[in-house]
This record gives sequence, structure tokens and C-alpha cells, in this order.
Amino acid sequence: MKKSIALLLALLLMTAVLAGCGGNSGKLTMATNAAFEPYEYYENEKIVGIDAEIAEKIADKLGLELEIRDMEFNSILGAVQTGTVDMGMAGMTVDEERLKSVNFSDTYANGIQVIIVREDSDIKSADDLKDKQIGVQDATTGDVFATDDFGDDHVKRYSKGSDAVLALKNGTIDAVIIDNEPAKAFVRANEGLKIVETEYANEEYAIAVSKDNDELLEKINKALKELKEDGTIQEIIDKYIPPEGK
Ligand code: ARG
Repeated sequence: MKKSIALLLALLLMTAVLAGCGGNSGKLTMATNAAFEPYEYYENEKIVGIDAEIAEKIADKLGLELEIRDMEFNSILGAVQTGTVDMGMAGMTVDEERLKSVNFSDTYANGIQVIIVREDSDIKSADDLKDKQIGVQDATTGDVFATDDFGDDHVKRYSKGSDAVLALKNGTIDAVIIDNEPAKAFVRANEGLKIVETEYANEEYAIAVSKDNDELLEKINKALKELKEDGTIQEIIDKYIPPEGK
């Protein structure tokens, strides 16, 4: 009798510990916007990419099962803030405005905002963007920069980067401001486009976590540190961005 009570108590304790771990029921839920190759995109109905793989490794270290939830980019921070998901990972840049609503982990990658134009375009730098129509993915840092520098009237917001790129091809807009690696993927996949050589802004990517979940933030940072130190993160990045192609 005593034994079974002890067993029951142990079981109860274990469930409590597990439940309190990542959030709910042994899962680590991650919000992303999977239209952002090579960080997150679909390959045969599965979300793959640098973020997806790093998240998988973090979940492993936390003893949790990763569950990725694909949503609009502009919904990610809200989902993190309200605790609908445990974290947001979407090639997301650390910035002051976002830090007001969420915490960010240590950074795990760098990004650069670049300008995509049509091959025959006369746009040679950001200075040439005045009076032009610029396409961006809604609520991204590209959106923020374009709006700050050229004014709302010159910015067209799309729910996906690929929609902005399509509008650029069609001639609806004159340029797209977006992160460099997705930009390369878009230019590869679409004829007649090129990337303007100026680097518009340098950024750092990190994982967004609710301000109410410092415990998870610490665990993520510890996992990231280990994954950096043993070379795993570099390996994953190099798999999707071959070093010579950088
Ligand atoms: N780095 C940019 C930002 O944080 C763009 C990120 C877009 N990510 C995505 N998965 N669509 O605003």
C-alpha cells in the first residue's frame, strides 16, 4: 500500500514537472511565417530551413517536442505575447520596438536588408528609391525602414515577400526591400530580377519569448550557447547557405 502511494506521488510530481517545462504537455510551440527561404519554407508540405532545424535542436535539449505553427508574419509577436505559442522564430530581427512587447534570446544569425529591382532598373542605391513604389512584407523591418525613409505613400505592404516580388515583376512596384538570403532565393526563382549592391541595414536574428516566461528564455539561451559552441548552428547555416555562396 505504502509503495503504491509513493509511486502515485512520484508520478504526480513527474507530470507536474513536465507540465511546467515548456508550456503545455511536453511541446515547444513555435510561431513562424514559412515563406522565407532559407530560414523557413515548405518542402513537400513540411516546414524546413535554418530556423526549423535550430528549433528542433533546442526542443531536443529541452526534452520537448517541437510544434511549428505557420501564420502571418504580423501575427507572430501577438501569439508570443499572449502565450498562444511558446516562442516566435522567423528570421526575426531584434529591434527596439519589438523589445517593448517581447523578450529576445541571444542572436543566432545575421541578416542584411537589401533592395531587389528588375534587371533593367535604373535604381542603383537606396538614394534612388525616392519617388518610387517600394514593396515590403507587412510589419517586417523592411517595412519599418521603407516607411521611415520614404514615407507611407511610397510603401506597399504584402502579406508575403513572394507577393511583393510578384508585384515587382508585374511592374506594380519598383523595388522590394527584404532580407538578403530570402532575396537571393527570390532572385534565383524569378527571372529578370537582381539585387542592388548596397547593404541597406545590418540586423541580428533572435527568438522572441514572452516577457512572462524568463525560465524558457534562459533555457533557450543555454541551448543556443551549447549549439553555437559545438558548431551545430554553423553546420545548419552552412547546409542552407553554402559558405562559397555567401
Ligand atoms: N528580418 C525581418 C524582420 O524581422 C524579416 C523577417 C521575415 N520573416 C519571415 N519568416 N517572413 O522583420
